[in-house]
Amino acid sequence: MLSGCALAATAQAPAPDSPQIEAKAHAMLSKLTLDEKIELIGGTDYMYTFAEPSIGLPRLKMSDASLGVRTWGPTTSYAGGVSLAASWDPELVRREGEALGKDARVRSVNFLLGPGVNIARSPLNGRNFEYLSEDPFLNSALAVAFIEGLQSQGVVATVKHYALNNSEFNRHNSSSDADERTMREIYLPAFEAAVTKGHADAVMNSYNLINGVHATQNEFLNLKVLKGEWGFQGILMSDWNAVYDGVGAANNGLDLEMPNARFMNAETLLPAVKDGSVKESTIDDKVLRILRVTLRYGFLDRPQFDPSNSTYSVADRAIALDAARESLTLLKNDGTLLPLNAAKVKTIAVIGPNAYPAVTGGGGSSTAQAFEPVSIVTGIANQAGPDVHVLYDRALPDLMEFLRRTHWQGGIEMATYPSKDFTGTPEMTKPRSIADYRQEWWGPEDKSPRSIRYTTSFKAEKQGKYLILSAAAGSDSYKVLVDGKQVLAHPRAEGQNARFTTIDLTAGQTVNVVAEYLPGFAGNRFGLGMVLEADLISDEAKQFAAAADVVVIAAGFGPNTESEGQDRTFELPWGQDALIDTITKINPHVIVTLNGAVGSDTRRWLAQVPALLQIYYPGQEGGTAVAEVLFGKHNPEGKLPASFDRSWEEDPSAAFYYPVKGADTSLHVTESGKPPVDYVMPHIKYDDGMMVGYRYWTTTGKHPLYPFGFGLSYTTFSFSKLTAPATAASGSTVAVSFDVTNTGSVAGAEVAQLYVSDPSTKVSRPERELKGFEKVNLAPGETKHVTLNLDARAFSYWDTAAHKWTIDPGKFVIRVGDSSENTPLSAELILK
Ligand code: BGC
Repeated sequence: MLSGCALAATAQAPAPDSPQIEAKAHAMLSKLTLDEKIELIGGTDYMYTFAEPSIGLPRLKMSDASLGVRTWGPTTSYAGGVSLAASWDPELVRREGEALGKDARVRSVNFLLGPGVNIARSPLNGRNFEYLSEDPFLNSALAVAFIEGLQSQGVVATVKHYALNNSEFNRHNSSSDADERTMREIYLPAFEAAVTKGHADAVMNSYNLINGVHATQNEFLNLKVLKGEWGFQGILMSDWNAVYDGVGAANNGLDLEMPNARFMNAETLLPAVKDGSVKESTIDDKVLRILRVTLRYGFLDRPQFDPSNSTYSVADRAIALDAARESLTLLKNDGTLLPLNAAKVKTIAVIGPNAYPAVTGGGGSSTAQAFEPVSIVTGIANQAGPDVHVLYDRALPDLMEFLRRTHWQGGIEMATYPSKDFTGTPEMTKPRSIADYRQEWWGPEDKSPRSIRYTTSFKAEKQGKYLILSAAAGSDSYKVLVDGKQVLAHPRAEGQNARFTTIDLTAGQTVNVVAEYLPGFAGNRFGLGMVLEADLISDEAKQFAAAADVVVIAAGFGPNTESEGQDRTFELPWGQDALIDTITKINPHVIVTLNGAVGSDTRRWLAQVPALLQIYYPGQEGGTAVAEVLFGKHNPEGKLPASFDRSWEEDPSAAFYYPVKGADTSLHVTESGKPPVDYVMPHIKYDDGMMVGYRYWTTTGKHPLYPFGFGLSYTTFSFSKLTAPATAASGSTVAVSFDVTNTGSVAGAEVAQLYVSDPSTKVSRPERELKGFEKVNLAPGETKHVTLNLDARAFSYWDTAAHKWTIDPGKFVIRVGDSSENTPLSAELILK
């Protein structure tokens, strides 16, 4: 019998420290001057706390993050974040947490800056891959396992990014505006569980504002909820440069400003303490928290360096491989293509930009540089063995190649104006291409104002669809016009992703092309190109596809297209739709593998493709795991951690994702070419409320492309014998049990999912909500009996009037199945 995953009902405040720790922390504090205390509440050298030798306090070392201990050189890069959520396996997550703890200890790291537990509200959020799922219950269960694993190794977990940090655009300035019930039911539970169940000893405030107040100075979130209701005893640190007001942060719960004291420093706080606007006891509380965590972890009594661990670890590689294996999610498998029959496949073509080198993670501060990542090409070659021919081609040019390949008609006129608004006398030049693009986010500040207009034209040699691609970086902004009509615009590049669109041209047609570019920093980082889409795909790729028995197209996002600091597109990166479309017409035996946190647009080619494998960001062993799944050496077992939409427009957050007015207007290129003067703080209205992901789909009765919790296997499972009490007392724990059987002929793992509905509720509630799950490994023909215990929270909603969790007694329905939409078992229960 298995006892599955369900969380305790009430928040259990972490136990206070022992009297010895308390006494020692106070004794240390008492020896410090106010200046010394203030020095301790800001970081130093980008990844350290301050040392105070006079009380024997060393500086403590930090590192990013959940995909690998990345800050200090090459490391094991794991299938982390969203991949762990796709595994639905808390035990795996715990093991990975322990492994990260060991990786941290061998590098003397005291704080790991993870896990990230924000909700995947929209597929566009550039950091979904670092986070977990669209569901607060799943996030809570996995966050707790991760934290327990990590902290068991003597390394502090830093749960981030608190809170409502669900998009990356304009992340320092935009306000996530949500009502309290939405926060309590959707966006806060994973943080609550991390603190009250996982006992995380650090939390990181996010960059954004919440209901108009920056996270780092948000009284409601930091003082009332985190430190008040949840009894958080640890350190609340800022994200890197996420403090905007020293007194505001000091008075509203922030304990540590990272990476250095830009605002919570002596210059601001000494006079504030003097004039009474900040109490010295408030500073003392922050220092005490830092001292208590230091003592709690024994950082004064033992070296953090643990030589019994390895920097390059074979044991870690095995965990990274297990995590990759458990995450890969088979979404489509028509006919008999998968698993591949090794005896029949003689030639396999592996095509696409994500086939080689390995795409282990997305971009930004989580990037973990693996020692020897296994690409899909090498994974397949290793798995297929010496008798199978593996043909690899990238198939698409890289960005710079694309820009340089463009044939502009009659040359390019580049006018560089000595102003930010295309006024004044321009300096004229005639570059050969518009290909100054560089990926750097940051550069020296542009002291002399400049704006650049490129004017050129393009002649279509053939009739067809032409791809127009533009790219810039950092805080550059631009717009592109074809025959006077704006086709592309980037209000503020924030990162380095390319923008693209297609236009249809007839043979011989010439169009005028104008690009207006405002560099954000010194130098020019703009690129623009235009190529017939059909010409993008290399001849080699087409030849390989024609010669192969089976084709694997490795597509999807990567570190440049799905990253911290920028949002991503719903469409696959440029050229990939055309690639899949073209190749499937040459050889229909195609398997598409997609890197990406959650859903993307598959409409153009999905019907033509017999097999689709979602691989998220599978870490350094991803290529091996993909090959094992394709050849049936590992039976796929991942389940979607988010509902996959057909189109961005149908996503429940689509209408509310961007601010109605003021989205990034500070740097918008307006029609006049001038940035607007009416800067408005962008307010993101979370008017989708609790209708996130499957809550929306099941409540509206509409169906997404693939539902939350869905994933195929090479075997089949059945659910039976649901037993639940007919009645129970409100607030009591309710045990629900059922059987899961492997009805097929190969071993496999199924995730049994339990959803609760509240049809007699007095308030409106989502149609169903995940309240329990269990991963079950089964041999062919084997049955396991699963019991899930549902606590009071499983039946509760946040009562906005009473400001507390409430159960409406009456009828509840319990459903069990293998996805949010397929729940063959159900039972009614009356709570009295
Ligand atoms: C990120 C954090 C990260 C920090 C330190 C910030 O840009 O938002 O998640 O931990 O940098 O690298």
